[in-house]
Amino acid sequence: MKRIGVFTSGGDAPGMNACIRAVVRAAVFNNLEVYGIKRGYSGMIKGEIFRMESSSVSNIVQRGGTILKSARSMEFMTKEGRQKAYEQLQEFGIEALIAIGGEGTFTGAKVFFEEFGIPTVGAPGTIDNDLYGTDYTIGYDTAVNTALDAIDKIRDTADSHDRVFFIEVMGRDSGYIAIPCAIGGGAETVMIPGTETTVDSIIKTIRSGWERSKTSSIIILSEGEIEGGATQVAARVKEQIPNMDGRVTILGHVQRGGAPSAFDRLLASQLGIACVEGLLEGRHNVMAGIINSKVEFTPFEQASKTKKLLSPIYTEMVKMLSV
Ligand code: F6P
Repeated sequence: MKRIGVFTSGGDAPGMNACIRAVVRAAVFNNLEVYGIKRGYSGMIKGEIFRMESSSVSNIVQRGGTILKSARSMEFMTKEGRQKAYEQLQEFGIEALIAIGGEGTFTGAKVFFEEFGIPTVGAPGTIDNDLYGTDYTIGYDTAVNTALDAIDKIRDTADSHDRVFFIEVMGRDSGYIAIPCAIGGGAETVMIPGTETTVDSIIKTIRSGWERSKTSSIIILSEGEIEGGATQVAARVKEQIPNMDGRVTILGHVQRGGAPSAFDRLLASQLGIACVEGLLEGRHNVMAGIINSKVEFTPFEQASKTKKLLSPIYTEMVKMLSV
Protein backbone atom coordinates (compact mmCIF):
# COMPACT_ATOMS: atom_id res chain seq x y z
CA MET A 1 0.00 0.00 0.00
CA LYS A 2 1.45 3.32 -1.14
CA ARG A 3 -1.36 5.82 -1.37
CA ILE A 4 -4.24 6.50 0.99
CA GLY A 5 -7.11 8.99 1.13
CA VAL A 6 -8.61 10.74 4.13
CA PHE A 7 -12.00 12.42 4.48
CA THR A 8 -14.48 13.72 7.04
CA SER A 9 -18.16 12.94 6.69
CA GLY A 10 -21.47 13.54 8.49
CA GLY A 11 -21.84 16.21 11.15
CA ASP A 12 -18.56 17.98 11.87
CA ALA A 13 -17.04 17.73 15.34
CA PRO A 14 -14.33 19.68 17.17
CA GLY A 15 -11.11 17.69 16.89
CA MET A 16 -11.67 16.49 13.33
CA ASN A 17 -8.83 18.77 12.22
CA ALA A 18 -6.52 17.32 14.87
CA CYS A 19 -7.41 13.88 13.53
CA ILE A 20 -6.76 14.85 9.89
CA ARG A 21 -3.41 16.25 10.99
CA ALA A 22 -2.50 13.04 12.79
CA VAL A 23 -3.50 10.92 9.78
CA VAL A 24 -1.43 13.03 7.38
CA ARG A 25 1.61 13.19 9.64
CA ALA A 26 1.47 9.47 10.53
CA ALA A 27 1.15 8.63 6.83
CA VAL A 28 4.15 10.80 5.92
CA PHE A 29 6.08 9.27 8.84
CA ASN A 30 5.37 5.83 7.38
CA ASN A 31 6.31 6.84 3.82
CA LEU A 32 2.76 6.74 2.51
CA GLU A 33 1.35 9.27 0.07
CA VAL A 34 -1.81 10.85 1.42
CA TYR A 35 -4.65 12.53 -0.44
CA GLY A 36 -7.37 14.70 1.10
CA ILE A 37 -10.91 14.17 -0.15
CA LYS A 38 -13.22 17.16 0.27
CA ARG A 39 -16.85 17.02 1.43
CA GLY A 40 -16.87 13.33 2.34
CA TYR A 41 -18.43 10.90 -0.11
CA SER A 42 -19.82 13.81 -2.16
CA GLY A 43 -16.34 15.04 -2.97
CA MET A 44 -15.14 11.49 -3.60
CA ILE A 45 -17.81 11.12 -6.30
CA LYS A 46 -16.88 14.47 -7.85
CA GLY A 47 -13.13 13.93 -7.65
CA GLU A 48 -12.45 16.74 -5.17
CA ILE A 49 -9.19 15.05 -4.27
CA PHE A 50 -5.78 16.65 -3.67
CA ARG A 51 -2.34 15.67 -2.47
CA MET A 52 -1.54 16.53 1.14
CA GLU A 53 1.88 17.02 2.63
CA SER A 54 2.95 17.47 6.21
CA SER A 55 2.68 21.25 5.75
CA SER A 56 -0.96 20.97 4.56
CA VAL A 57 -1.97 20.36 8.16
CA SER A 58 0.13 23.03 9.87
CA ASN A 59 -1.69 25.20 12.38
CA ILE A 60 -4.96 23.26 12.41
CA VAL A 61 -4.73 21.14 15.58
CA GLN A 62 -6.47 23.90 17.54
CA ARG A 63 -9.18 24.71 15.00
CA GLY A 64 -12.83 23.62 15.14
CA GLY A 65 -14.72 22.38 12.07
CA THR A 66 -12.90 20.43 9.37
CA ILE A 67 -10.52 21.77 6.72
CA LEU A 68 -11.69 18.92 4.47
CA LYS A 69 -15.30 20.07 4.88
CA SER A 70 -18.10 17.61 5.45
CA ALA A 71 -21.33 16.49 3.85
CA ARG A 72 -24.02 13.84 3.98
CA SER A 73 -24.16 12.35 0.48
CA MET A 74 -27.43 10.93 -0.87
CA GLU A 75 -25.69 9.94 -4.10
CA PHE A 76 -23.25 7.63 -2.31
CA MET A 77 -26.25 5.68 -1.03
CA THR A 78 -26.81 4.52 -4.63
CA LYS A 79 -24.72 1.91 -6.44
CA GLU A 80 -24.13 4.37 -9.30
CA GLY A 81 -22.78 6.95 -6.85
CA ARG A 82 -20.41 4.43 -5.29
CA GLN A 83 -19.27 3.33 -8.77
CA LYS A 84 -18.35 6.96 -9.58
CA ALA A 85 -16.50 7.27 -6.27
CA TYR A 86 -14.56 4.09 -7.03
CA GLU A 87 -13.58 5.37 -10.47
CA GLN A 88 -12.27 8.60 -8.95
CA LEU A 89 -10.17 6.67 -6.42
CA GLN A 90 -8.79 4.54 -9.27
CA GLU A 91 -7.94 7.70 -11.20
CA PHE A 92 -5.87 8.99 -8.26
CA GLY A 93 -4.41 5.57 -7.44
CA ILE A 94 -5.86 5.60 -3.93
CA GLU A 95 -5.77 2.10 -2.47
CA ALA A 96 -7.21 2.60 1.01
CA LEU A 97 -9.21 5.14 2.98
CA ILE A 98 -9.42 6.69 6.41
CA ALA A 99 -12.92 7.91 7.23
CA ILE A 100 -13.53 10.31 10.11
CA GLY A 101 -17.22 10.37 10.96
CA GLY A 102 -20.12 8.56 12.57
CA GLU A 103 -22.66 5.85 11.96
CA GLY A 104 -23.66 6.81 8.38
CA THR A 105 -20.02 7.22 7.36
CA PHE A 106 -19.11 3.72 8.53
CA THR A 107 -22.21 2.12 7.05
CA GLY A 108 -21.23 3.62 3.68
CA ALA A 109 -17.61 2.46 4.02
CA LYS A 110 -18.71 -1.10 4.73
CA VAL A 111 -20.91 -1.32 1.63
CA PHE A 112 -18.15 0.31 -0.44
CA PHE A 113 -15.68 -2.36 0.67
CA GLU A 114 -18.12 -5.18 -0.07
CA GLU A 115 -18.73 -3.86 -3.60
CA PHE A 116 -15.34 -2.49 -4.61
CA GLY A 117 -12.83 -3.89 -2.12
CA ILE A 118 -11.48 -0.53 -0.93
CA PRO A 119 -10.26 -1.08 2.65
CA THR A 120 -11.28 1.60 5.10
CA VAL A 121 -10.39 2.21 8.73
CA GLY A 122 -12.51 4.77 10.61
CA ALA A 123 -12.05 7.26 13.41
CA PRO A 124 -15.15 8.08 15.46
CA GLY A 125 -15.83 11.76 14.81
CA THR A 126 -19.16 12.92 16.22
CA ILE A 127 -20.27 15.04 19.15
CA ASP A 128 -22.95 12.45 19.97
CA ASN A 129 -20.66 9.81 21.56
CA ASP A 130 -23.13 7.20 20.34
CA LEU A 131 -20.68 4.77 18.73
CA TYR A 132 -20.05 1.38 20.23
CA GLY A 133 -16.38 0.40 20.48
CA THR A 134 -14.98 3.57 21.96
CA ASP A 135 -15.42 5.18 25.35
CA TYR A 136 -15.43 8.63 23.75
CA THR A 137 -15.86 10.01 20.25
CA ILE A 138 -13.88 12.94 18.87
CA GLY A 139 -15.72 16.20 19.62
CA TYR A 140 -17.89 14.93 22.46
CA ASP A 141 -15.86 16.42 25.29
CA THR A 142 -15.74 19.84 23.63
CA ALA A 143 -19.46 19.80 22.82
CA VAL A 144 -20.36 18.95 26.41
CA ASN A 145 -18.16 21.74 27.75
CA THR A 146 -19.63 24.22 25.26
CA ALA A 147 -23.15 23.23 26.32
CA LEU A 148 -22.23 23.38 29.98
CA ASP A 149 -20.78 26.86 29.62
CA ALA A 150 -24.09 28.01 28.08
CA ILE A 151 -26.09 26.27 30.82
CA ASP A 152 -24.06 28.01 33.54
CA LYS A 153 -24.90 31.35 31.93
CA ILE A 154 -28.56 30.43 31.68
CA ARG A 155 -28.55 29.50 35.38
CA ASP A 156 -27.48 33.06 36.23
CA THR A 157 -30.42 34.61 34.46
CA ALA A 158 -32.83 31.84 35.55
CA ASP A 159 -31.91 32.55 39.16
CA SER A 160 -32.22 36.33 38.80
CA HIS A 161 -35.78 35.96 37.47
CA ASP A 162 -36.95 32.89 39.43
CA ARG A 163 -37.52 31.09 36.13
CA VAL A 164 -37.72 27.52 34.86
CA PHE A 165 -35.57 26.88 31.80
CA PHE A 166 -36.08 23.99 29.41
CA ILE A 167 -32.75 23.49 27.65
CA GLU A 168 -32.49 21.17 24.66
CA VAL A 169 -29.10 19.70 23.80
CA MET A 170 -27.99 17.67 20.77
CA GLY A 171 -27.07 13.99 20.72
CA ARG A 172 -29.64 12.43 18.39
CA ASP A 173 -31.43 9.66 20.26
CA SER A 174 -28.66 9.15 22.81
CA GLY A 175 -28.44 10.97 26.11
CA TYR A 176 -24.66 11.21 26.14
CA ILE A 177 -24.58 15.00 25.90
CA ALA A 178 -27.63 15.50 28.11
CA ILE A 179 -26.35 13.54 31.10
CA PRO A 180 -23.07 15.37 31.85
CA CYS A 181 -24.87 18.65 31.16
CA ALA A 182 -27.52 17.75 33.72
CA ILE A 183 -25.06 16.59 36.37
CA GLY A 184 -22.45 19.28 35.72
CA GLY A 185 -25.05 22.03 35.27
CA GLY A 186 -26.92 21.14 38.47
CA ALA A 187 -30.14 20.45 36.57
CA GLU A 188 -33.30 19.61 38.48
CA THR A 189 -34.11 16.81 36.04
CA VAL A 190 -33.14 15.36 32.67
CA MET A 191 -35.24 13.89 29.90
CA ILE A 192 -33.57 11.45 27.52
CA PRO A 193 -34.90 8.53 25.46
CA GLY A 194 -35.14 5.34 27.45
CA THR A 195 -35.57 6.87 30.90
CA GLU A 196 -38.66 7.26 33.00
CA THR A 197 -38.82 11.05 33.05
CA THR A 198 -42.25 12.20 31.85
CA VAL A 199 -44.03 15.55 31.66
CA ASP A 200 -45.81 14.62 34.91
CA SER A 201 -42.56 13.82 36.68
CA ILE A 202 -41.09 17.16 35.52
CA ILE A 203 -44.13 18.95 36.96
CA LYS A 204 -43.63 17.13 40.27
CA THR A 205 -39.93 18.03 40.30
CA ILE A 206 -40.63 21.74 39.70
CA ARG A 207 -43.35 21.88 42.36
CA SER A 208 -41.30 20.02 44.93
CA GLY A 209 -38.37 22.37 44.25
CA TRP A 210 -40.58 25.37 44.94
CA GLU A 211 -41.76 23.75 48.19
CA ARG A 212 -38.10 23.57 49.18
CA SER A 213 -37.62 27.27 48.28
CA LYS A 214 -35.73 26.64 45.06
CA THR A 215 -35.89 29.78 42.97
CA SER A 216 -34.75 28.51 39.59
CA SER A 217 -34.98 25.20 37.78
CA ILE A 218 -33.08 23.82 34.83
CA ILE A 219 -34.59 20.94 32.88
CA ILE A 220 -32.23 19.34 30.33
CA LEU A 221 -33.78 17.55 27.36
CA SER A 222 -31.99 15.46 24.78
CA GLU A 223 -33.15 16.40 21.25
CA GLY A 224 -34.27 12.85 20.45
CA GLU A 225 -36.51 12.33 23.47
CA ILE A 226 -39.94 11.10 22.56
CA GLU A 227 -42.14 13.74 24.21
CA GLY A 228 -41.37 16.19 21.38
CA GLY A 229 -38.46 18.38 22.47
CA ALA A 230 -38.07 21.36 24.79
CA THR A 231 -40.70 23.60 23.17
CA GLN A 232 -43.49 21.02 23.36
CA VAL A 233 -42.56 19.80 26.82
CA ALA A 234 -42.39 23.39 28.17
CA ALA A 235 -45.85 24.11 26.70
CA ARG A 236 -47.33 20.99 28.28
CA VAL A 237 -45.81 21.82 31.67
CA LYS A 238 -47.16 25.39 31.40
CA GLU A 239 -50.69 24.03 30.84
CA GLN A 240 -50.45 22.34 34.25
CA ILE A 241 -48.54 25.12 36.04
CA PRO A 242 -49.85 28.39 34.53
CA ASN A 243 -47.97 30.54 37.07
CA MET A 244 -44.60 29.10 35.97
CA ASP A 245 -42.31 31.68 34.34
CA GLY A 246 -40.75 29.31 31.81
CA ARG A 247 -38.32 29.81 28.94
CA VAL A 248 -36.93 27.49 26.27
CA THR A 249 -33.37 27.45 24.94
CA ILE A 250 -32.32 25.13 22.13
CA LEU A 251 -28.53 25.10 22.14
CA GLY A 252 -28.28 23.66 18.61
CA HIS A 253 -25.23 23.91 16.41
CA VAL A 254 -23.24 26.05 18.81
CA GLN A 255 -22.36 22.64 20.31
CA ARG A 256 -20.63 21.59 17.08
CA GLY A 257 -18.22 24.50 16.79
CA GLY A 258 -15.26 25.94 18.63
CA ALA A 259 -11.71 24.98 19.42
CA PRO A 260 -11.34 21.36 20.54
CA SER A 261 -10.59 20.70 24.21
CA ALA A 262 -7.22 19.26 25.23
CA PHE A 263 -8.96 15.90 25.67
CA ASP A 264 -10.34 15.95 22.12
CA ARG A 265 -7.00 17.00 20.61
CA LEU A 266 -5.28 14.10 22.34
CA LEU A 267 -8.00 11.59 21.47
CA ALA A 268 -8.13 12.73 17.83
CA SER A 269 -4.35 12.54 17.49
CA GLN A 270 -4.19 9.08 19.02
CA LEU A 271 -7.00 7.77 16.83
CA GLY A 272 -5.61 9.36 13.65
CA ILE A 273 -2.32 7.55 14.19
CA ALA A 274 -4.17 4.32 15.07
CA CYS A 275 -6.08 4.49 11.76
CA VAL A 276 -2.87 4.70 9.72
CA GLU A 277 -1.25 1.91 11.73
CA GLY A 278 -4.44 -0.15 11.40
CA LEU A 279 -4.33 0.12 7.60
CA LEU A 280 -0.63 -0.77 7.58
CA GLU A 281 -1.43 -3.87 9.65
CA GLY A 282 -3.92 -4.88 6.96
CA ARG A 283 -7.11 -4.00 8.85
CA HIS A 284 -10.28 -2.93 7.05
CA ASN A 285 -13.92 -2.30 7.84
CA VAL A 286 -13.07 -1.37 11.41
CA MET A 287 -13.29 1.70 13.61
CA ALA A 288 -10.38 2.63 15.85
CA GLY A 289 -11.54 3.50 19.35
CA ILE A 290 -10.22 3.86 22.85
CA ILE A 291 -11.54 1.49 25.49
CA ASN A 292 -10.11 1.74 29.00
CA SER A 293 -7.20 3.84 27.66
CA LYS A 294 -6.25 1.23 25.03
CA VAL A 295 -6.67 1.42 21.26
CA GLU A 296 -9.16 -1.20 20.08
CA PHE A 297 -10.59 -1.90 16.63
CA THR A 298 -14.30 -2.68 16.26
CA PRO A 299 -16.02 -3.81 13.03
CA PHE A 300 -18.01 -0.97 11.42
CA GLU A 301 -21.22 -2.95 11.63
CA GLN A 302 -20.88 -3.41 15.39
CA ALA A 303 -19.69 0.17 15.98
CA SER A 304 -22.69 1.68 14.24
CA LYS A 305 -25.47 -0.82 14.98
CA THR A 306 -24.82 -1.91 18.57
CA LYS A 307 -26.43 0.42 21.06
CA LYS A 308 -23.93 1.98 23.44
CA LEU A 309 -25.92 1.91 26.64
CA LEU A 310 -25.88 4.74 29.09
CA SER A 311 -25.82 3.56 32.67
CA PRO A 312 -29.09 4.24 34.57
CA ILE A 313 -26.86 5.31 37.46
CA TYR A 314 -26.53 8.73 35.85
CA THR A 315 -30.23 9.59 35.87
CA GLU A 316 -30.36 8.40 39.48
CA MET A 317 -27.45 10.74 40.20
CA VAL A 318 -29.35 13.70 38.74
CA LYS A 319 -32.32 12.87 40.98
CA MET A 320 -30.17 12.46 44.08
CA LEU A 321 -28.17 15.63 43.48
CA SER A 322 -31.20 17.84 42.98
CA VAL A 323 -32.91 17.22 46.34
O1 F6P B 1 -24.59 13.87 14.71
C1 F6P B 1 -24.26 15.15 15.11
C2 F6P B 1 -25.47 16.03 15.16
O2 F6P B 1 -25.07 17.32 15.59
C3 F6P B 1 -26.62 15.52 16.02
O3 F6P B 1 -26.42 15.76 17.39
C4 F6P B 1 -27.79 16.26 15.41
O4 F6P B 1 -28.97 15.53 15.59
C5 F6P B 1 -27.43 16.34 13.96
O5 F6P B 1 -26.03 16.15 13.87
C6 F6P B 1 -27.80 17.64 13.29
O6 F6P B 1 -27.51 17.50 11.93
P1 F6P B 1 -27.45 18.71 10.91
O7 F6P B 1 -26.19 19.47 11.15
O8 F6P B 1 -27.48 18.06 9.58
O9 F6P B 1 -28.64 19.58 11.19
